[in-house]
Amino acid sequence: MTNSLRVRLLWWLLVPLALYVFVSGKAAYDNARHTADLLQENTLLASARMIAGEVEWSDGMLRVDIPPAALEVFASPHGDQVYYNVSVDDGRLLAGLPDFPSNRAAAEAATHDTPIYYDAALHGASIRVIGYVRRMYDNGSIRHVLVSVGKTQASRDAMVRQLWRGQLVRQIEIVLLAVALACIGLTFELRPLLKIKDEVMDRDPMQLEPLRVERLHAELRPIVDAINQCIARLGVQVAAQRRFIADAAHQLRTPLTVLETQVQYARQHRALEPSLTEALAAMQRSTRSMVGLTNKLLLLAQAEAADYTQLATQKADLSGIAKEVVEDLALVAEKRGIDLGAELGDAAWIIGHEGLLAALVFNVTENAVRYTQSGGHVTVAVAQDGERVTLAVTDDGPGIPAEARSRVFEPFYRASADTEGTGLGLAIAREIVQAHRGEIAISASDPSGRGLVVAVRFAAA
Ligand SMILES: Nc1ncnc2c1ncn2[C@@H]1O[C@H](COP(=O)(O)OP(=O)(O)O)[C@@H](O)[C@H]1O
Ligand SMILES: [Mg+2]
Repeated sequence: MTNSLRVRLLWWLLVPLALYVFVSGKAAYDNARHTADLLQENTLLASARMIAGEVEWSDGMLRVDIPPAALEVFASPHGDQVYYNVSVDDGRLLAGLPDFPSNRAAAEAATHDTPIYYDAALHGASIRVIGYVRRMYDNGSIRHVLVSVGKTQASRDAMVRQLWRGQLVRQIEIVLLAVALACIGLTFELRPLLKIKDEVMDRDPMQLEPLRVERLHAELRPIVDAINQCIARLGVQVAAQRRFIADAAHQLRTPLTVLETQVQYARQHRALEPSLTEALAAMQRSTRSMVGLTNKLLLLAQAEAADYTQLATQKADLSGIAKEVVEDLALVAEKRGIDLGAELGDAAWIIGHEGLLAALVFNVTENAVRYTQSGGHVTVAVAQDGERVTLAVTDDGPGIPAEARSRVFEPFYRASADTEGTGLGLAIAREIVQAHRGEIAISASDPSGRGLVVAVRFAAA
């Protein structure tokens, strides 16, 4: 059977109801037949009695005049045929059809004062017949006069149909109504379930608050509770993992810094073989990039753990932060032959953590300075526009191919393998923006697809 709740519930409703309609329809049919038969037999009896009442002695002979009323009782719009036969027990026919299917056994039985009813066939039609006997006395002898009246079944069948079909149609209507109401009711009542689905679907992968669904059915509550428990356990797990990365990065920092210092010290030794000097220089580069990586990992862990409700107690001036970052990177930019400029207006205050926001601006600006060719231009702009504060870092470097743009925010993803880096810069930037409930987007700065604009938007404080 199908897995649809709707279809399954309909089956539960339809199968028993259809069975019920069948059984009760059969009972109604039997009932209707019984009633119609009873009515028909009463009419036959009335007719037979009227005819029998007209049988009389005349000159020692039995005679009968069929009263018109005896046949008029059968009048109906269905055009039933009525046949009769009045005969004496010596075989004489007093009136009616000679070939009437009189039943000997019926005549016998009818002599015991009770009329008898039976089915017969006449002129190719099936008829219902009454056999009614009247005893006539004459000079001490008794004659039995058998009055048989038969009638075709059209009006009786019509009555059965009328009695039975009406009931059946009403019952089928009730079943259809029940099915329709069940469908409509289910559509309405399934809405909260679909709402839960939307709630779950619309979530950010890292959104770990419990589900809140208003006006929930009692039956659905356990499901939501179970999902919420699962989310809570997941939250604990995620937090533990983040703590582990932060702790590991923190623990690695000290020995790595010591190592770097030691390598630096070793390089200053005067009597070194040239090949050793080279090896030590390579070692120092590796240690430096390891320190850089560890610092970035630590920063990423901090950004991931940052919580807006905690950040909301602090304010930072994005314009001032950008100014400092540009100053910090001025030397690097000059060395690389990049024209690094700033378009900073007045102070632009937003809610958030100064250190994290500085890391955001630094990562984005450093990228622009690093990936733009010598002679290129990089502009850091901060602007306040009513309720919004925007940061835009624009360069005229090679840009990022459209197909890689969605991936550069993933940790460790790097679009340019030939340069040094960790692939964590933009991942950190995105985490910081999200922790501050802002938006970050990248696009080409030039219509030809070259150059890059990293645009970040925050709500003004
Ligand atoms: N301004 C830019 N111009 C061109 N490519 C960029 C720019 N900024 C970032 N990228 C690309 O995006 C990738 C991811 O950047 P990021 O996360 O900062 O890692 P990293 O700089 O350590 O490689 C980089 O490897 C680089 O290929
Ligand atoms: Mg980078």
